[in-house]
Amino acid sequence: MVVERSIQQDLTALAYSGDPAFIVLVAATATEIVGLVVFAPIANRADLVEIKLLAVTHERRREYIAINLKQAAMDTATAAGADLVVSDVHEDNLPMRRLNDKLSAQTAPDPDEPNYLTTVVKVVPTTS
Ligand SMILES: CC(C)(COP(=O)(O)OP(=O)(O)OC[C@H]1O[C@@H](n2cnc3c(N)ncnc32)[C@H](O)[C@@H]1OP(=O)(O)O)[C@@H](O)C(=O)NCCC(=O)NCCS
Repeated sequence: MVVERSIQQDLTALAYSGDPAFIVLVAATATEIVGLVVFAPIANRADLVEIKLLAVTHERRREYIAINLKQAAMDTATAAGADLVVSDVHEDNLPMRRLNDKLSAQTAPDPDEPNYLTTVVKVVPTTS
């Protein structure tokens, strides 16, 4: 999944302009959105981006749409200088936990939310 470099730069400039902002990347066919990732910078932590939502429609799961969306989010984060992507996942959400494992994520219990894990992925950019 390719997010054109100039778009990444526009998005990250907007997101880091000082106003609260979310970035949304979608995976879509000509007629429908089949997946999306929503992420945002974290105040005072230029090295961190937080993924707020990652979801793929039931009919299109297990086609690597989510992992490509997450990688695209990570590539966009690196365009702004971040190199860590954090997210929360419920401990029972095995599909998402396995996806995070595939990205070599580190996971620890979330101290603020019972039954949730905080996941951190060190970004390895896929674009030049
Ligand atoms: C979790 C979710 C986003 C995964 O989307 P997806 O496009 O099907 O995932 P991918 O095809 O990119 O899967 C990549 C890897 O993740 C793991 N994975 C994904 N779904 C899995 C499942 N149902 N069971 C086991 N492992 C799974 C696998 O390791 C998979 O690689 P593999 O197929 O080579 O084994 C999707 O199931 C979803 O939208 N769930 C509901 C929303 C949600 O829970 N979002 C996460 C909130 S934290």
